Amino acid sequence: MYPPARYSQYMEQMKRTVNCGALRKQDAGKTVILNGWVHRKRDHGGISFINLRDRYGITQAVVGEGATPELIALTGELRNEFCIAVEGRVRPRPDTMVNPEMATGEIELVVDKLIILNRSEVLPFQIDEECGVKEELRLKYRYLDLRSSGMQRRIRLRHEVSFAIREWMIGQGFYEIETPTFIKSTPEGARDYLVPSRLYPGKFYALPQSPQLYKQILMAAGFDKYFQIARCYRDEDARGDRQPEFTQIDIEMSFVGRDDIITMTEGLFGHVFKKCLNREIPAHFTRLSYEEALEQYGTDKPDLRFDLKLQDFAPYVEAGSFQAFKDALSAGDIDRQTAAAKGVTLAGGGVKALVVPGKAGYSRKQIEELESQAKIYRAKGMAWMKVGGTETEPILEGGAAKFFAKNAGDIIQGLEAKSGDIILMVADAHRKVANIALGAVRSKLGRDLGFCDPNRFAFVWILDFPLFEFNEEENRWEAAHHMFSYPQEQYHDILDRDPGSVKGDLYDLVLNGHEQASGSIRIHDPELQKRIFKIVGIDPAEAEKKFGFLTEAFKFGAPPHGGIAPGLDRLVMLMAGETSIKEVIAFPKNSFAAGLMDDSPSEADQKQLDELHLSIVYPAKES
Ligand code: AMO
Repeated sequence: MYPPARYSQYMEQMKRTVNCGALRKQDAGKTVILNGWVHRKRDHGGISFINLRDRYGITQAVVGEGATPELIALTGELRNEFCIAVEGRVRPRPDTMVNPEMATGEIELVVDKLIILNRSEVLPFQIDEECGVKEELRLKYRYLDLRSSGMQRRIRLRHEVSFAIREWMIGQGFYEIETPTFIKSTPEGARDYLVPSRLYPGKFYALPQSPQLYKQILMAAGFDKYFQIARCYRDEDARGDRQPEFTQIDIEMSFVGRDDIITMTEGLFGHVFKKCLNREIPAHFTRLSYEEALEQYGTDKPDLRFDLKLQDFAPYVEAGSFQAFKDALSAGDIDRQTAAAKGVTLAGGGVKALVVPGKAGYSRKQIEELESQAKIYRAKGMAWMKVGGTETEPILEGGAAKFFAKNAGDIIQGLEAKSGDIILMVADAHRKVANIALGAVRSKLGRDLGFCDPNRFAFVWILDFPLFEFNEEENRWEAAHHMFSYPQEQYHDILDRDPGSVKGDLYDLVLNGHEQASGSIRIHDPELQKRIFKIVGIDPAEAEKKFGFLTEAFKFGAPPHGGIAPGLDRLVMLMAGETSIKEVIAFPKNSFAAGLMDDSPSEADQKQLDELHLSIVYPAKES
């Protein structure tokens, strides 16, 4: 076994002169040195072909004709992922051997010198193995996974996106300012990650869920336009588009209104898509109010790559004889009246329908699968009927059709259904439940029917969100976004009386069904901020303790301001056509917030715990 070459030999004789993606036909005849990894090696009757790889590409190196016995023996030792240096002469490949798939496919390197820089053990999986490598293995041996062409391409895209963001933001006059990562908690609705303080026994820093309070204070400090590619930390349940630590393109501006932020964000996305994907996206994105999004798509994150809309079925319920639908509407009415007597606005019940074109052939099993999707989102069931008959004389048949014999014509006409379609319906005493459950069915249909082309990008702004949501478990109002968002002016009078109907100056940017960015115009009046704290049940003493530094800063002439924060990981994920953000993060955590490569989190030793004044009480084991 040949030992790896000495460092001095490498530096003096075998340091690369070109990279593995550079050589072309016109380089024929040159003597060059390449450094890289053995991607593949093939032996053909005394000749070895080595695909040598680095970040820039792959070059075919040939060891054969005229090779010394030592070179042949050394080549015989090479295995995949050995790190090597080769010196040789570039020669054009014969026409029949040209590989048009490779940028360097017109040439090869005839090797006359080879050294092994480092050997590789047997690999747990082959680099660029297309499928079948378990995620656990990929994360444990992330450095090997990162060598794959897919990961290399995505990490490069991420780098290019970050660069394009900086380029555009700085060009627009934004300052990039870092905010601290050891902070007082900034609430964004998740649990904090805490860092114990050695110097202050019993006290903790929180890692930022976002730089929210600090960027607002930067506005109070007069910086006018701020951005930061900021790390954020949230202890929340994992999902495909969530990580416990992730990155935001955090932005804040002074002396602006909602539309200024929207226009600025559209400009940013336009630049990034053009620069990094060479794609033109619309100069302005579609806008929907939160209510429209919920009514038409059953979600505040609608995927507009397909335009299947939920429709209102309530107008057809009375003339029909479907008791379950009638009950849902009347139960909703009673709730609404009771709430109205207390000055609270409720939406009442709802019956919503989705006409799926050409799917009258769905089997009972297929319909049941869609129904179980609706049930996950609290629907009691999902009714259906098919549109049969002919193109000119469509009729309703099957499922719930028997209840609508009298007004079938009206329904077909009103819903614009055609022969061959299926109509899916969900009713509930809470209109929102009917919308959301049928919206989940719509999303599943989008995936199942192949409407979600990863090469299409459908942006939509969702505006006019409710400022508060009622937390039924804790029986209290909480901020729908965060507590610093501005209630739209027309609601200031009823703010304390009917929080449920207050809309905020909030906006989300949704891309292909994912919340891509979120932001708002902020409260800059300390008195208004106090009213909001009160509504969400934070008493003045607690507000002072938690956010006193913000309200204090706002006493000294804080300007009107607002901002937004697009998620960088999600953006790159969608640009790369992926469905998991782990694919665009170099070292992500697994779904249980563990780092499989470095085995984090790990135990601290007793000395560290003592210094931090901590002792561990382990949870009791379940028997
Ligand atoms: P919000 O909490 O909506 O708003 O977050 C903004 C954007 O950050 C991304 N994001 C995440 N990405 C990956 N993993 C996560 N766990 C995760 N959580 C959020 C999303 C989301 O749209 N301070 C406010 C913004 C503002 O008001 O300016 C905030 O953080 O893309």
